[in-house]
Amino acid sequence: MRMKFFLDSANLEEIKYAIKKWKIDGITTNPRHLMVAGMTVEDFAREVKELVEGTHITVSLEVNPHLEDPKEIVDQATSLASLSNNFVIKIPATESGFEALAELSSKGVKVNITLVFNLVQALQAARLGAYYISPFVGWREERGELNTDFINQIVKAVKGYGYSSQIIVAAVRSAKHFVEAALAGADIVTAGFQVYKRAFDNPYTRMGLQIFSDAWNSIYGR
Ligand code: E4P
Repeated sequence: MRMKFFLDSANLEEIKYAIKKWKIDGITTNPRHLMVAGMTVEDFAREVKELVEGTHITVSLEVNPHLEDPKEIVDQATSLASLSNNFVIKIPATESGFEALAELSSKGVKVNITLVFNLVQALQAARLGAYYISPFVGWREERGELNTDFINQIVKAVKGYGYSSQIIVAAVRSAKHFVEAALAGADIVTAGFQVYKRAFDNPYTRMGLQIFSDAWNSIYGR
């Protein structure tokens, strides 16, 4: 399997751009992105559905983070999932979240277990049938932790035991996180719009273009 690129955003203009120009493979969002975009999860679901239906693009939508009762998590997740086949429902890596996951996977609802910060959480998510598992590398790094072993261990363990869950390296902040994800064999990276913009724009590429443009001018006399 090849590594996919997902956009982490609730901004519909960014999403349209990334689908059209970058052929992005999927979208992830969270309540913070919705707040910035000024939308409820229901509003966002309605709008984004129009953009992705009929494509392979999955959209991960998060349940209300206040929910602690697994039954309430299952109810909201089921209702969001029923809106589109492209939707995958984000549920936190908590004990209640795992209980809800078990129920949802048995009903065929695709779940993205989010806020994963250790291998045990990742393995529990895989055991219970998570479709995606999202370890947050940026948040760990901001607190002084190294990520290379962290991602390697999760990918090695989940794949080694033969679970079908796909690993999304999340909260990606730089091109370096793409390198770590790819070398670990992660399935997916999800990053914000500006992270992609910065990663696609390399100063050496621009410097090389200047050198080649000057050479072109010498040849053609411009
Ligand atoms: C991923 O699924 C999350 O939405 C995301 O990466 C969270 O982190 P951030 O909003 O701090 O980037």
